[in-house]
This record gives sequence, C-alpha cells and structure tokens, in this order.
Amino acid sequence: MAVDFVFLDSGTGGIPYMLHLLKKSPDSKCVYVGDTANFPYGNKTHEEVVKCVIDVVGKIIQRFNPKVIVLACNTMSVNALDVVRSIYPDNTFVGTVPAIKLASETSKNRRIGLMATKSTIEHPYNQDLKNHFASDCELVLQPAPDLISFIEHEAFTASKEECIKAIEPSVEFFRKNNCDCIILGCTHFLNLADLIQEVAGEKIKVVDSVEGVVNRALSVIGALRGVPAEGVAEKTAGCAEDFGAQGKAFPSFNTLYVTGFTDKKDENEYNVICKRFNLSFGGKL
Ligand code: DGL
Repeated sequence: MAVDFVFLDSGTGGIPYMLHLLKKSPDSKCVYVGDTANFPYGNKTHEEVVKCVIDVVGKIIQRFNPKVIVLACNTMSVNALDVVRSIYPDNTFVGTVPAIKLASETSKNRRIGLMATKSTIEHPYNQDLKNHFASDCELVLQPAPDLISFIEHEAFTASKEECIKAIEPSVEFFRKNNCDCIILGCTHFLNLADLIQEVAGEKIKVVDSVEGVVNRALSVIGALRGVPAEGVAEKTAGCAEDFGAQGKAFPSFNTLYVTGFTDKKDENEYNVICKRFNLSFGGKL
C-alpha cells in the first residue's frame, strides 16, 4: 500500500499537523520524518536550509515515494519549497507559512505578533505575506530559538510549570508591544499551542496554520485521486499557496522516523512522544 502523506519537519514541529490530519481523515496513510540530525534549521543560512531540505526530501522519495510531502516547517517552506518543487517535479508538495492572513482577519488593533525562527522572520517571503495580507498592520517580530529548542528537547518530559516558564518571556514581549494577536510561525509551537493561549490570556488571540495546511493537504490528495475534497478548499490559511506564489510498498503507517540523535535524552524524548501519540518509532531514516 502506498504512503499518502509524509510530514517533514526539523524535529517535533510537524507532529501536531499530522495528528490533525489523521483526526480529520483517519484512513490516511501517514509517515513522519524529523530531520533531527540537522535541528535547528532556524539559525541556518538560506543555502544551508536548502541543502538540508533537498537531501532529506530525496531520501523520503526514495524510501516512501509518498503521494504528498507536507513541509510542516515554516523555515523549510519559505526557503526551499520552490526549490524542491523544481528539483522533484513528479512529487507533490504542500508548504507551511505563518498564518498572517488569518491574523489580519483576527486582529482588532492591527498589531500582530509573529513568533518564528530567525530564518523565517528575516526571509523576504514573510515580508511579502505581510504586504499582501496585512499591509495595514504592524507586525511585531520575535525570533524564539530558546523556546523552539525547549520544545524539541524537553517539553514532552517537562512539567506544566516548566513549559509555562519557557513560554512566558515570548508572550510577555508581545503583551508589552500591545499585540492583540500572536501568530505561531514555527510549527514547534503547535506542540504547546493550548498552553501558549492560556499564558496569553483572553485579550490576546493565538493563531496558527494547522487547519489551513491540513485542509490544503486533503484537498491536494483529493485532486490527485480525482475526488475534490468538499468544504475544505476555502479554509487554507497558512499553507504556502495562500500567497499564490506558487509508491513504494510500505508496511507500517503512523510511524515516526528521525535522521539522528545527539544524545540519549533526545531518544527518550522521542520515545515518550511516540507512546503519547500512539506512533511507532521507525528509527533512523
Ligand atoms: N519547526 C520549524 C519551523 O516551523 C523550525 C524549527 C528549527 O529547526 O529551528 O520553522
């Protein structure tokens, strides 16, 4: 049986996207890949990100030949979506970008906070999204590498208090800057989305791209099968196409692969993740 979707991120960030898709479409055949050997992507140069994405996507195609590859990572998408589409023209990709359009529809005071990687924040694609969808808004930018690293290495074995402590500085920054909306522009944050909203309180609305990206992925696979996915086409905020820029046999689905661990602690973290979300651990890709 062929793989429908491979979800790819630098680590744990794409997991909430895959789980959300499986919730909406439980029969989908999904595989997850975390390019953990190259984490973090957020501090790399454009050229480094592009190289890493080309390499890992090449391995994914060779091993699983999925119908759709979801780049469930903003940093990969803004830097390398166009590149992998042109290098692998026979494969179908769905990208993830900060949900600036959704934030613009949500914000009342027109001051929007964007938490993301340094790479995403500095990429011209991000500015293009702002100009296109939120030209009348002030975009308050904050790279959050410490929180991203905490989520990758510790969040799943940390206490709620420890998670709140890790979240607070970022939220406080946006509160001080009078933002009434925060965009989770790095997929890692989705693992703590409820807690980020709890810390932000009811006056600040936290928005993300999960629904938009998953709807887009389902509509793309529907189109590949010749069956239009009903009722999802309009709600695709946060998938890369928002801006208009643009099988091999495999026995086990809902399996998570990594590209390498630096230490035992990370291995344990991923074991906890797999158990919690009922995923099999596939080992090294
Ligand atoms: N999860 C990734 C994103 O959405 C990046 C995390 C990282 O590797 O720095 O941008």
